[in-house]
Amino acid sequence: MQSKPIVIGIAGGSGSGKTSVTRAIVKRFGEDSIALIEQDAYYKDQSDKPFQERLHTNYDHPLAFDTDYLIEHISQLLQYKSIEKPVYDYTIHTRSQETIHVEPKRVIIIEGILVLEDERLRQLMDIKLFVDTDPDIRIIRRLLRDTKERGRTVDSVINQYLSMVRPMHNQFVEPTKRYADIIIPEGGQNKVAIDLIVTKIQTILEQKSFL
Ligand code: C5P
Repeated sequence: MQSKPIVIGIAGGSGSGKTSVTRAIVKRFGEDSIALIEQDAYYKDQSDKPFQERLHTNYDHPLAFDTDYLIEHISQLLQYKSIEKPVYDYTIHTRSQETIHVEPKRVIIIEGILVLEDERLRQLMDIKLFVDTDPDIRIIRRLLRDTKERGRTVDSVINQYLSMVRPMHNQFVEPTKRYADIIIPEGGQNKVAIDLIVTKIQTILEQKSFL
């Protein structure tokens, strides 16, 4: 019987560099070895709400996510069963019609702003990481990304940041740092941290092969 897959949680504020850390780890092991689960894919489906209403949702609050569904999918991957991962469309603020087929792998990465917030999710993780980047860098990255890739205006990004992203970050994201096994300053540029994490994953994988 195969041993349980390793689950790695990668948390951190919006624009902190979670995606670069994830990419750096995926690059070392190869895409075929890792099942990647973005918490954003599990934003609650809002297709029954009008677009104007969806614009006012607080997407930085834990209740914006369908965490039960996320946990259900991770539990299936842990039993070596494949899943149909939802696809989130930021331009229309809801799930798209498509899904992505994800095969079970020996390493599962769960990445997102609030992945360390829910105790049930934390319990499933073998390694918990928090990517820690200064707020000025995070807002600059977000401004560039959201205007280029997520169909937003400069004004809307700034308003959302001041009214929701910043207060929710301070209330819900930042406090989860204390649950992290490793806090990574500066995300994917931190080669030493990435090397340490990759070595740790390799060690766990080797130990599990002998079980
Ligand atoms: O990739 P990143 O971690 O930045 O994604 C999380 C961010 O996406 C949240 O801070 C949230 O404000 C934003 N978001 C958004 N509009 C949505 C869904 C999420 O601006 N419809």
